Amino acid sequence: MGRDSPKEDVALRSSNLSSSIEALVKPGIRDVIQIGRHTVIVGTSEMMPEIPSNSIDVVVTSPPYNVGKKYDPDGRFTDKLPLKEYLEFMGRVFSELKRVLNPKGLFFLNISDSARDQGKSEAVAKQAMKSGFIRIQTVVWVKSLFGKGHYTPSGRTKRLNNVWEHIFIFAKTKNYEMDPKRIGIPYADKSNIGRYAEKDLRDPGDVWFIPYQITTGQTIKKGHEAPFPIGLPYLCIKLVPSAKYVLDPFLGTGSTLAAANRLGLTGIGYEPFPNIEVIKKRVLETHFEEPQFPLVPQLERVKNTGMLFLIRLLEKANPRDKQEIWETLPSIQRKHFLWALKDLGMLELFVERLPLSEKEQILAEKLLQL
Ligand SMILES: C[S@@+](CC[C@H](N)C(=O)[O-])C[C@H]1O[C@@H](n2cnc3c(N)ncnc32)[C@H](O)[C@@H]1O
Repeated sequence: MGRDSPKEDVALRSSNLSSSIEALVKPGIRDVIQIGRHTVIVGTSEMMPEIPSNSIDVVVTSPPYNVGKKYDPDGRFTDKLPLKEYLEFMGRVFSELKRVLNPKGLFFLNISDSARDQGKSEAVAKQAMKSGFIRIQTVVWVKSLFGKGHYTPSGRTKRLNNVWEHIFIFAKTKNYEMDPKRIGIPYADKSNIGRYAEKDLRDPGDVWFIPYQITTGQTIKKGHEAPFPIGLPYLCIKLVPSAKYVLDPFLGTGSTLAAANRLGLTGIGYEPFPNIEVIKKRVLETHFEEPQFPLVPQLERVKNTGMLFLIRLLEKANPRDKQEIWETLPSIQRKHFLWALKDLGMLELFVERLPLSEKEQILAEKLLQL
């Protein structure tokens, strides 16, 4: 393919397919659906004869978790294989991914344990390494925190509910390229500007808070069991500078193509059970809010309800109470409070009314000049 799009109506080599898929695929031709500049190949990604070696810049995906989800309305796909068979299935896809990934590219693998099924994610990550990938890092994707965001309860009475997932990052070679500042955020502590970086921009770290906006039940009604938020592939893809071609071997609703579309890139996806209307709508949807990292690491600042409560409390307190409240606060919290006021545009108003120490007055003056 070089840098061209995959061909339409390609021949399928149908050997060595997983038992769950074999019955479904007609040996011979695979259908291809074109959505703008993006391509969906209808079939398994255990073989990807449509894609030439070294041609893909970023892979972002979330495989079936082997937890009994119903992806195929006709029930031909079993998302509940014995672990050994499941890992072999993953291994076949990973070997193909290793072949098609560009030596400078990155492979982001999102998967999670459920509360009652611990350790599977790690086994899948090890399978990717067996297929020849170098393990770079694990990002923790937080789905729900402090009551914001949805998750499916799975803990019952014996375990805590699982509110985060892994995003394993793999590379094909040590020459991979990543630019964390491309998803950068402002410093919480502005005094770090100049110390660690020239500009007010640092990477968000390896914990990403990307909440689901709707419940799983609502998602299923909309036509799929387990999509990830578009913000997830969006951040992964953005991390890779000069990416052009993005692949998702387990496409589902097309979230990865939707992210590629917003970034002006070209996406390719594999899905044996595509719901074309759902995929088209998701890929071409115009409304999208870029993840803002509202809690990490600005957790302690404006978005923190504790901080808002403190602002209200100090606003209403008489001068004597104000002094007492202020003096009981640890100095780090007082500093964060000043930054929060700055972010809210309320610093000028408060500065005169708070019993600031000399150091705090200097900080407040600096913040007012920013
Ligand atoms: C966890 S879902 C992916 C959801 C996707 N990230 C999204 O946001 O919609 C896994 C998908 O893999 C698909 N799948 C199952 N077996 C497959 C195979 N052999 N090759 C490619 N896709 C497969 C399932 O139908 C399902 O849609």
